[in-house]
Amino acid sequence: MFETLTKAPGDKILALMGEYAADPRPAKIDLGVGVYKDEAGTTPVMSSVRKAEQRILESEKTKTYLGIAGNKGFANAVLDLALADSVDRSRVRIAQAPGGTGSLWVLMQLVNRARPGTTVWVSDPTWPNHNPIAVNSGLKVATYPYFDAETRGVKFDAMLAALDRLGPDDVVLLHGCCHNPTGANLTPEQWDRVAESLARTGALPFIDLAYLGFGDGIEPDAYGTRKVLSMVPEALVAFSGSKNFGLYRERIGAAILVARNAEAADITQSQLLNIIRGAYSQPPDHGAEIIRTILEDKELRAEWERELDHMRARMIGLREKLAEAIRQRSNSTDFDFIAEHRGMFSLLGLENSVVEHLKATNGIYMIGDSRINVAGIPEDRVGDLAEALLAATR
Ligand code: LMR
Repeated sequence: MFETLTKAPGDKILALMGEYAADPRPAKIDLGVGVYKDEAGTTPVMSSVRKAEQRILESEKTKTYLGIAGNKGFANAVLDLALADSVDRSRVRIAQAPGGTGSLWVLMQLVNRARPGTTVWVSDPTWPNHNPIAVNSGLKVATYPYFDAETRGVKFDAMLAALDRLGPDDVVLLHGCCHNPTGANLTPEQWDRVAESLARTGALPFIDLAYLGFGDGIEPDAYGTRKVLSMVPEALVAFSGSKNFGLYRERIGAAILVARNAEAADITQSQLLNIIRGAYSQPPDHGAEIIRTILEDKELRAEWERELDHMRARMIGLREKLAEAIRQRSNSTDFDFIAEHRGMFSLLGLENSVVEHLKATNGIYMIGDSRINVAGIPEDRVGDLAEALLAATR
């Protein structure tokens, strides 16, 4: 049987994690995988999460099945958090899924049931796993212009012109906030224009919302998603609780669909639940119950929001420190964009040979396209990092 197989390509983000772990150099710096790190360079369990887990341990009475759509309290709390009152809930359905990736996967399967082999338009560039998830679901992938390598901002006019040319058979994958890998994001006015374009062309918006709260705060980060949903008849949203709740390995996410009316929502949801039942039957509960416990409790929620605020402020602070350290040493503003970007990542725009050189010579690990995870910048070594970057790019 297996002699028919050839080796599949590895995932470059997860492969780099392994390479970093195997590097014995004590001064190595990990700017690779998108995992938040605190001042001590660790990824601790959030205090609000720890408390929720203690409550669950004490109060949980059964581990019997919850059903294909998962934890209902979690589902309602996530809709309140991400969508607020942007769209009439009678048109909205949600199914808990294993992580943002699992949510993307079941929603891509749903798209393929509705329009087999249709095209998903992704930003150029996008998270490298978008392409395999779409292709493995039977869909085609094409790109729309996004990142301007000159300004390190968004090529908005080109992006909008490309979106304006799409039609009702097309799917447009958008990063709700904190664009991965670039760190360059749409302004609220640009989101307004994207929403208008989608409403006009009928292309289906599919929003990947993996970093809510990591950019400018929950409300500003949700602006684009809510705006789009308020203007279009149909939409999909893949929500992740991996980063904002630090629940990476618990694999907690949600697949959200918006349909034209309640009847269409019920039909579409029945297909989504059928896909889930035929894949993994039902989602795991632990991460969902943690999020439900936090969001439904006033005190725990306030504590979680404080922790999220701290993570976000730390990442913005590190952005500013690195940009400043480079400016001081080079007398140039070439890397100021790092301070303007938002979210966990910035695409530095370095050649792959420079990325490899930094890894080999300085033990500085970033993704091959020169994406850095700003949370991985060690507070006390910002100067070293600035010097290494300048030396490698001179
Ligand atoms: C990342 O982009 O580094 C994260 O989303 C982790 C992953 O699964 O790739």
